[in-house]
Amino acid sequence: MTLEFLGTLRGLSYLAASMLFILSLRGLSTQQTARGGNLLGMLGMGLAVLITGIVLVVTNLGLAADAGGGGPTATGGRAVGLLVAALIGGGALGALVASRVAMTSMPELVAMLHSFVGAAAVLVGIATTLQPGGDGAHGAAHLIEIFVGVFVGAVTFSGSVIAFTKLRGLVGSRPLMLPGRHALNASLVGASIVLAVLFVREPGPEALIYLLAMMGLALVLGVHLVMAIGGGDMPVVVSLLNSYSGWAAAAAGFMLSNDLLIVTGALVGSSGAILSTIMCRAMNRSIWNVVFGGFGAAPSGPKAVAGAVPAGVVHETSVTEVAELLLAARLVIIVPGYGMAVAQAQHAVKEISSFLTEKKIKVEYAIHPVAGRLPGHMNVLLAEANVSYEIVKEMEEINPEFPKTDVVMVIGANDIVNPSALDDPSSPIYGMPVLEVWKAARVVMLKRSMSAGYAGVDNPLAYRDNTLMLFGDARQSVVNLLTALRAQA
Ligand code: TAP
Repeated sequence: MTLEFLGTLRGLSYLAASMLFILSLRGLSTQQTARGGNLLGMLGMGLAVLITGIVLVVTNLGLAADAGGGGPTATGGRAVGLLVAALIGGGALGALVASRVAMTSMPELVAMLHSFVGAAAVLVGIATTLQPGGDGAHGAAHLIEIFVGVFVGAVTFSGSVIAFTKLRGLVGSRPLMLPGRHALNASLVGASIVLAVLFVREPGPEALIYLLAMMGLALVLGVHLVMAIGGGDMPVVVSLLNSYSGWAAAAAGFMLSNDLLIVTGALVGSSGAILSTIMCRAMNRSIWNVVFGGFGAAPSGPKAVAGAVPAGVVHETSVTEVAELLLAARLVIIVPGYGMAVAQAQHAVKEISSFLTEKKIKVEYAIHPVAGRLPGHMNVLLAEANVSYEIVKEMEEINPEFPKTDVVMVIGANDIVNPSALDDPSSPIYGMPVLEVWKAARVVMLKRSMSAGYAGVDNPLAYRDNTLMLFGDARQSVVNLLTALRAQA
C-alpha cells in the first residue's frame, strides 16, 4: 500500500461517508424512514472512523511502501497505542451510557455530548497553536480559523454544561436576568475580537496567551447565555447548542484540514439551526431572543407546586366514569405528554386506543412539537408502542378537530395544553401555540397531582367546567381504565 493509494482511499471513503450522512438526514425527516436514516448515519460514521484509523495506523507505523521512514518508530507505536485505547475506551463508554439512558434523560445526554464536541474544538485549536513551526506555517486565514474554532468550541462547551445542569435540575430553570446582560455579552465578544487581532498579529506559541484569554471569556459567555434562558425555552437551547457544536466541529475540520469533519460539522450546524428555527416557530419565539437569552422568565405570581392550594374548583373523576364517557364517544383524541413517558404508559394507552377502535370509536393522537423533553419524544414512544402513523396528528392539523371531539384524554401533559398561553399575557408561556383541547365536549386530565409542568406555571385547564381530573400514575390509571372499559363494553 502506498501513501498515494491511501490518500485516494481516504478521499473516496470521506466522500461516501458524507453522502451517507446526507441520506441519513433525509431518512430522518419522516417517521417511516427514520430507522433507515439512523442506520445510514451509523454506517457513515463507522466508515469515517475506520478509514481515519487505518490511515493513522499506516502512517504512524510507517507501513506504506513509499513512506521512506524505515519502519515503525517508538513514537509512532505510542501514537497508535493511544489511538486504539481511545477508540476502545471511548466506544465502550459511549455504548454503556447510551444503553442505560432513559428516554426522558435523552436531552441531558445530548447536551453532554455537545459539550464534548466543544471541548474537542478547543483542544484541537490549542494543539494546532502549539505545533512546532506553527507561526510560520499558519497564515492569517488559518489563525482566524483557529481563533473562531476555539471561540465557538468554548461557548458550546460551557453552554452545554449549563444546559446539562439545568435539564438535570441541578441548577434552577429560572432565567438569570443580570442587569445590563446584553452589554456584558457585547463586551465579552468585543474583548474577544481585540484578542483575535493580537493573536493574528503576533502568531506563534507565545500567542497562546491571547487564545487562552479569549477561551476564558468565551466560557463565561457560554455560561451567561444559557443561564439567561428560562425552562420553557430549554428545548430550543439544546437544539441551538447542537448547531453550535456542528460549527465547532467544522472549525476543527478547517484546523486539521479534514474535509469530512468540515462537511459533517456544516451538516450538523445547519440542520441544528433549521431545527431551532422550526421549534421557535412552534413556540412562537423569536430565535434572536432565545440566542441572546432572557426568555421563558418564571411567572411573577406564585408557582404552582405539588400540594399547593388549587386556584379553582377541580372536578375529580373515576375510571368508571371515564370508561362510560369513552364508550359513548364518536371521536376521542389522546394528548400524550412528558408524564406518559415517565410512567411508560404508551403500551397501555395503545391498548385503549385499539380497544376503542374495535368498538368503532374513532381515535387520534395529538402531538405538540415540544411535548415531552426532546424533539419527537412522543412520536418515538408511540412508534415503540406500534401506534399507526396515520392516526398521529401534528398540532396544526388536529387543532381544528377539537370542537367536534367528544373526549380528549390528556395523559401526563400540562404546558402544551395550557390555555394561558393564548389568553393570559402575563403568563411566561404566553404566545406559545398549544393544543386547544378545552374546545372539546369533555377533557380528562390524567396526572398524579395538581403540580405544574416544566415551565412551572399553573394550568387553568384543570378548573374548567368541562375538565375532569383522573389522579394517579398515568400507567396505573390507564391500566385501570382498560379494565373498566372491558367490564362495561
Ligand atoms: P409538562 O408540562 O412538563 O407536564 C408533565 C406533567 O406530567 C406534569 O404536570 C406532571 O404532573 C405529570 N406527570 C409526571 N409524571 C407523571 C406520572 N408518572 N403519571 C402521570 N402524570 C405524570 O409536559 P408537557 O405538557 O409534555 O410539556 C413539555 C414541557 O417541557 C414544555 O414546557 C416544553 O417547553 C418543555 N421541554 C420540552 C422539550 C422538548 S424538545 N420536547 C425539552 C425540554 C423541555 P404531576 O406531577 O401532577 O403528575
